[in-house]
Amino acid sequence: MTTPEHWIRLARHSPLGLLVDLDGTLIPFAERPDLARPPEDLVDFLDALASSPGITLAVVSGRLRSEIEQFFGRARSLWLAAEHGAFLRGDGTWRSILDTDGSEIEDLHVTLAGIALQSPGALVERKSASVAFHFRRVPRQIAPTLRVEVEAAVEAWLASHAGYERMPGAEVLEVRPAAARKSAVVPWVRERAGAQARLVALGDDVTDEDMFEALGAADEAVLVAPSVERPTAARWILDGPAETIGFLRWLDAARAGAAPGPPLIPRPIPRRAPADADAVAYGLLAISNRLPGPYPKGTPELDRKRQVGGLVSALEPVLAAREGLWLGWSGETSPGKAFGPVRLSAGTRPVLASIDLPSKTHQLYYGGFCNRTLWPLFHTLPGRVRFVDAEWEAYVEVNGRFATAAAELVPADCAVWVHDFHLLLVASELRRLGHRGPLGLFLHVPFPGADLFRLIPWADRLIEGILEFDLVGVQTDYDVRNVMQVVGAVTPATVSDDAVRYRGRRIGVRAFPIGIIPETFEVEAAEESEETTALLGSVEGRRLILGVDRLDYTKGIHERIEAFGRLLGLFPEWRGNVSYVQISVPSRADVVEYREQRTRIEAAVGRVNGEFGEAHWTPVRYLYRSYGQAELARFYRAADVCLVTPLRDGMNLVAKEFVAAQDMERPGVLVLSRFAGAALELTDAVLTNPYHTDGMAKDIDRALRMPAAERIERHARLAAAVQRTTAPLWAEGYVAALEACRGPR
Ligand code: UDP
Ligand code: G6P
Repeated sequence: MTTPEHWIRLARHSPLGLLVDLDGTLIPFAERPDLARPPEDLVDFLDALASSPGITLAVVSGRLRSEIEQFFGRARSLWLAAEHGAFLRGDGTWRSILDTDGSEIEDLHVTLAGIALQSPGALVERKSASVAFHFRRVPRQIAPTLRVEVEAAVEAWLASHAGYERMPGAEVLEVRPAAARKSAVVPWVRERAGAQARLVALGDDVTDEDMFEALGAADEAVLVAPSVERPTAARWILDGPAETIGFLRWLDAARAGAAPGPPLIPRPIPRRAPADADAVAYGLLAISNRLPGPYPKGTPELDRKRQVGGLVSALEPVLAAREGLWLGWSGETSPGKAFGPVRLSAGTRPVLASIDLPSKTHQLYYGGFCNRTLWPLFHTLPGRVRFVDAEWEAYVEVNGRFATAAAELVPADCAVWVHDFHLLLVASELRRLGHRGPLGLFLHVPFPGADLFRLIPWADRLIEGILEFDLVGVQTDYDVRNVMQVVGAVTPATVSDDAVRYRGRRIGVRAFPIGIIPETFEVEAAEESEETTALLGSVEGRRLILGVDRLDYTKGIHERIEAFGRLLGLFPEWRGNVSYVQISVPSRADVVEYREQRTRIEAAVGRVNGEFGEAHWTPVRYLYRSYGQAELARFYRAADVCLVTPLRDGMNLVAKEFVAAQDMERPGVLVLSRFAGAALELTDAVLTNPYHTDGMAKDIDRALRMPAAERIERHARLAAAVQRTTAPLWAEGYVAALEACRGPR
């Protein structure tokens, strides 16, 4: 059926219910709501249409009952819904669907009116049971600050008024009883029109989405807007009030059987195929800054190494298995200020949606706020933290872009799972865009305590952003306690062991320890490449100590090399008998601290080798490169001791990978920092303090000397722990908890 045929058939259907919003849909917005009113001939036309046989026509508005009555009171055939459906007039008399007279909202009205008095252009509208703050005429320079002040007052009030909710609209923030929703109008009209009725709803505002969603499969929703700027349940679009009226007149004529002439009918909203169609099927969108590709243009095939890091390692296999869609940075930057469009990868599993970031913005966001502010701060290294306003602004901007990209990709009720510290503000932006599905955050990094977090000049903005998620997942119970401590210190929220109550919402905060897929590292998986064979051959006959990390100062590589040097000093019997292989994967090399760290590590390697090396023995074999996981599996299995000694780490997957790769009858020993999240699960490792060089040297010695029986016993318990929290279990547990957050916010 063509579009005109579809609409002619619908227009002629009886019974037919029409639900039409007022402002922005039937009449254009004016500077002040009291200046926008329907002209008399429009009221007459609507009344006449409403009286045609087989038609129920309802004007569904957010305005006051008294205003709606004043505009349309004389149109006796029209059905009316005021204050978002709180008041209904079907056959002449108004009734309220609320169980409150709304008097308790008066104190919020007084507060907001006080704020409006100080702010040019601001307008507060008191309705029977709700209050709306209008920003439309507020000068642009003061609007953002004013919004913050209004939001804060509203949130403070909402915290003690559970039956109310905030409803952001076009240039307005309204607080109203949660029961007053335009969706309530749909069954009301359907009841009058009868079971066979088909309904058509028209609206421009986010508040109309409720109405759209309550429609049935045979009904139609029409968005009235010049373009689609937010996720919508509507399938059709008309570009403004003039088109709405043109369409209603056409519909009237079509029903009367008149030749409809050039039809003024809604146009289909283009589906953003293939993304949209696929995304509906995915049911889950993951977002992270880092993707496992696609690779920058011109990257030679051989150099297309997987992006190394725990986030990608854990997420890639589980999303591939779930047919997930994964949005992130493309790895490319563009000149100028514009962000790139969303591009979809062809034929990959999972499907990757990526965006280019403008190079300057990327530098400030990733090279600045992410990696020079949040990263060191979250890893409890305040000495490395700096705060730069322009970097924060870029962070806010990039988070906004990821949110709009997400809104383009998936329907408004899709579950969205955001990963890591790069994207803490995505939920607030997605909500502003009208997203209704559950929003989850998982932090791969540790969460700092309140003393540290409050150093951030934008601590409150970040926490407010985090609390817009429905579920906040962290690696350990220790991190949960820190989140609660920070929330308690920065906001008036109520915290319990596993949830925060804030602004009438519940935000789950729980530990979901991340894991690996152990089989990936078991003996069958190990790859005998030329490289691994040559390297292992060169240490043949000596005990092998292994370190595998991204080159990052949080990993304690420098401290570890110092401790290895101390081992050789304290226990000379190991000289010539051990080889320490350190794989350091290039990481964040654009960031100055990372370049400095590299120089520092290389100098330490040089010192230890210079001091202890012999003609046929190089104590430290240092490799600045990355390996595939199958090659790593072989190194892990060959190692007698693995040193995982970060100064602080969210989890540390290398520790778990090493355990999984061991021969259970001749296992190697894991020396693990107490400050890695993994230490809370892998308690049978030799736990060490990376800040204590002598202590670490002695712990390495102890690991090298550990008797076989003790190694086997400890390894069995470690392997059981690794099996308890695998990557698939982690993802399933998280996604189930996220899905359980569905429901009214
Ligand atoms: N990795 C890799 N190749 C390498 C070194 C490391 O694929 O040459 C992987 C490793 O297998 C692990 C991840 O990088 O899955 C590192 O994760 P981890 O949690 O230990 O630390 P992160 O880098 O996330 O801080
Ligand atoms: C850590 C972070 C991840 C990050 C990874 C690699 O695991 O938690 O978010 O992806 O390091 O760092 P990069 O900056 O290269 O993405």
